[in-house]
Amino acid sequence: MSLLTLKDIKVEFKTRDGIVQPLNGVSFELEAGEILGLVGETGSGKSVTAQAVMGLLPFLDGRVSSGEISFMGRDMLSLSEPEYQQLRGNQISLISQNPMTSLDPVYRVGHQIVEGLQLHTDLSREQARERAVNVMSSLGIPNSEKVFHQFPHQLSGGLKQRIVIAMGLCADPRLLIADEPTTALDVTVQAQIVELFRQTVEKMDLGLIMITHDLGVIANLCDRVAVMYAGNLVEIGDVKSVFARPGHPYTKALLNCIPVLNMEADSLKAIPGNVPSVRTYPKGCRYHPRCPDAGPLCRKIPPEIIRTDPGSRVLCHQFSPQWRKTL
Ligand SMILES: Nc1ncnc2c1ncn2[C@@H]1O[C@H](COP(=O)(O)OP(=O)(O)O)[C@@H](O)[C@H]1O
Ligand SMILES: [Mg+2]
Repeated sequence: MSLLTLKDIKVEFKTRDGIVQPLNGVSFELEAGEILGLVGETGSGKSVTAQAVMGLLPFLDGRVSSGEISFMGRDMLSLSEPEYQQLRGNQISLISQNPMTSLDPVYRVGHQIVEGLQLHTDLSREQARERAVNVMSSLGIPNSEKVFHQFPHQLSGGLKQRIVIAMGLCADPRLLIADEPTTALDVTVQAQIVELFRQTVEKMDLGLIMITHDLGVIANLCDRVAVMYAGNLVEIGDVKSVFARPGHPYTKALLNCIPVLNMEADSLKAIPGNVPSVRTYPKGCRYHPRCPDAGPLCRKIPPEIIRTDPGSRVLCHQFSPQWRKTL
């Protein structure tokens, strides 16, 4: 049994201008001890996928409108909010993109890490304190003892982000979702943190979903990669095979954008054209206006996900039997 399974998840948000549907049938599985990278341009639905798994959509005027999410065999969509609350921060933990959503401005940061630790472990206050300071040091936080006693507003953005990562790692979850956790940090610190994620997954046998813009992080850290575009998961597979033989034209374009030298977070912008807005998704394949290989079929009919290698799936007409007939 997989740790986490998403089957054909669709999401709706109510907005002042009507309903938007940022996820259009997302499916994947994650095993314990596995790291899945989730990549795609801004607005493709990565954070919404995380929010769906974490049960946070109701707080955002959203909902999963169809599909299934199961976690350790439990049907997550039938949980009540109190039941979900029991899982959040405990069995499932989110390291959010914006550190201030996870930090409480009125408490010292050390207190917040220790609170979390004591909630989920049998550690004494002193042991929890020690573990927190250790995790902080291994995240490259200088003067951990001093930072431990500071308030969030006294810390730089980069330090705040590392405190949030420490909280996520200390919660000892079965499933951890990290939403662009290292984007605000410099390259050396990033490398340290990536290493700590790897060790934590190995030691605790947890499942990790790493949402990132950084294909270098995907290559170094992840076992499998899922590529999202405009609310669809367009390709999923083993990192090695996907990087060596990308199937989807969008994945190919992403990989072509890796700059040779130092990469910046928004290097993905280099693909010609823009991500369509959630209100104006094109008919047919959502990628067709930007796709160099698009044919008549792509402009009319949305593709279906097709298994290519044993472990790989691609959402592209080029892999379907109809494709050859239209050439
Ligand atoms: N609370 C919300 N209400 C309405 N639309 C939203 C909300 N959150 C996200 N969206 C829309 O859903 C789409 C996917 O967003 P998101 O998952 O945040 O993208 P990203 O891949 O950059 O994380 C975007 O078009 C975004 O505008
Ligand atoms: Mg996001």
